[in-house]
Amino acid sequence: MDPKKTKSSKQEEPKVATTLKEFFIDSLKDIYWAENALVKTLPKMFDQATDQKLKTAIKNHLAQTKEQVVRLEQVFDSLGMKAEGKKCLAMDGIIKEGEEIMEETAEGPVRDAGIIAASQKVEHYEIATYGTLAAFAKTLNERTALDLLLKTLGEEKKSDCLLSTIADTNLNSQAVDGKLQSKDLNAI
Ligand SMILES: [Fe+2]
Repeated sequence: MDPKKTKSSKQEEPKVATTLKEFFIDSLKDIYWAENALVKTLPKMFDQATDQKLKTAIKNHLAQTKEQVVRLEQVFDSLGMKAEGKKCLAMDGIIKEGEEIMEETAEGPVRDAGIIAASQKVEHYEIATYGTLAAFAKTLNERTALDLLLKTLGEEKKSDCLLSTIADTNLNSQAVDGKLQSKDLNAI
């Protein structure tokens, strides 16, 4: 074996979790980074959205995300640790894709439909993550962490449903030809 190669691969070796508890903590750091990244991104989405219901949903989501950051700090606290973030590659990618969607769509119903699409990818990632974290907390018998994680999981599911409703009720139909449809105008 090339000794030089062995040396350099050893230097770059990531810290390896050897227990479920360690992996649980690593995953908490990941979602803590993700929620904090969302706190910075949601105001940009708010500025780019035009539909009032969507703007209100994003505004509420921002307030809720800030609460979820605090809740994660409580989870770390329940484990006797200080909250710490670790870059979440998945959320970083979803956010970048959302920014690209906003750049590549015309302002109005089409961009709004794109913002909902990006937001639902965020929600589904979070639902998967919090579901897994809650399962880990249950297995590890971390009851306080479990309760906190389940509360956030419930909120993420509700946010996802709300976004589906906004898209289904009129936004996607308005986006068909990029402007308000006559049936939507009648409803105004
Ligand atoms: Fe969240």
